[in-house]
Amino acid sequence: MSQPADFVGGSLAGQIALVTGAASGIGFATATLLARAGAAVALVDKSSAEAHAAARTLRAGGHDAVAVRADVGSAKDMIRAIAAVQKRWRRLDLVVANAGVNGLWAPVEDIEERAWDETMATNLKGTFLTIKHAVPLLKRSAGAIVVVASVNGTRMFSNAGASAYATSKGGQVAFARMMALELARFGIRVNTVCPGSTNTGIFSTTRQRHLARIRPVVRFGRGHVPLTPGKIGTPENVAGAIWYLCSPLAAHVTGTEVYVDGAESLLCG
Ligand code: NAI
Repeated sequence: MSQPADFVGGSLAGQIALVTGAASGIGFATATLLARAGAAVALVDKSSAEAHAAARTLRAGGHDAVAVRADVGSAKDMIRAIAAVQKRWRRLDLVVANAGVNGLWAPVEDIEERAWDETMATNLKGTFLTIKHAVPLLKRSAGAIVVVASVNGTRMFSNAGASAYATSKGGQVAFARMMALELARFGIRVNTVCPGSTNTGIFSTTRQRHLARIRPVVRFGRGHVPLTPGKIGTPENVAGAIWYLCSPLAAHVTGTEVYVDGAESLLCG
């Protein structure tokens, strides 16, 4: 019997997907959903043990999955990651540039140059390197790219101290739009998903300093979600939008942002 995904045109059977930051949170939920829709998945993450555990979980569910340890901010690592995909499957159809960090949230005088650079290296340069090195393979299959940005830096600017993070996320949107035009002639679609507050481990690695000094006066803080009061989003909420953008259902969709935030960013702009 065919899967529901086949019936509605969302099947990814026979497709090869690469997801960065796939060991946890939105990346793992996305890798899982793409695999369930029929794709084979390369789970790229800088955390080797977690990436291997995530890939084992998918394989235990009967899916084709492999873990690749790579720091998305390193060209050498990303070249190796793409080469691993080429060696195993000889093709690449879908890329989800998801790896990201919140980094340091602080008044601008307190953000050290190194902290700024670290955020940019993963979120912005990492997106550039992921796409740059995947494009030669994607051109052969007229594949699709989804960049995971954020409401921060695109529709929301009231998270005090998140200036490096928001700048990196706004930059991702600009880069994705440039790529959508540049790669359209090859049939490659490039879209961005902008999640609002999503229940993942990212907040445990966020560093915050002296935010009380610069907090703007806003009526609603982060996490106030009109669609689901008292509840922030789930990684699966975001993964659903990414699946759609990867699938043939989105065949005419490119160069756009999809907000997955229950209207949170409309309140907190
Ligand atoms: P998470 O912390 O659960 O997962 C991030 C994954 O990326 C981790 O497995 C981590 O090891 C990996 N990673 C971090 N730096 C890396 C690097 N340099 N190279 C390779 N892998 C690296 O976080 P979450 O929430 O799943 O975040 C995923 C994306 O979603 C990020 O780009 C984040 O900015 C974005 N996002 C998350 C929101 C949230 O509320 N959780 C809201 C808006 C956007």
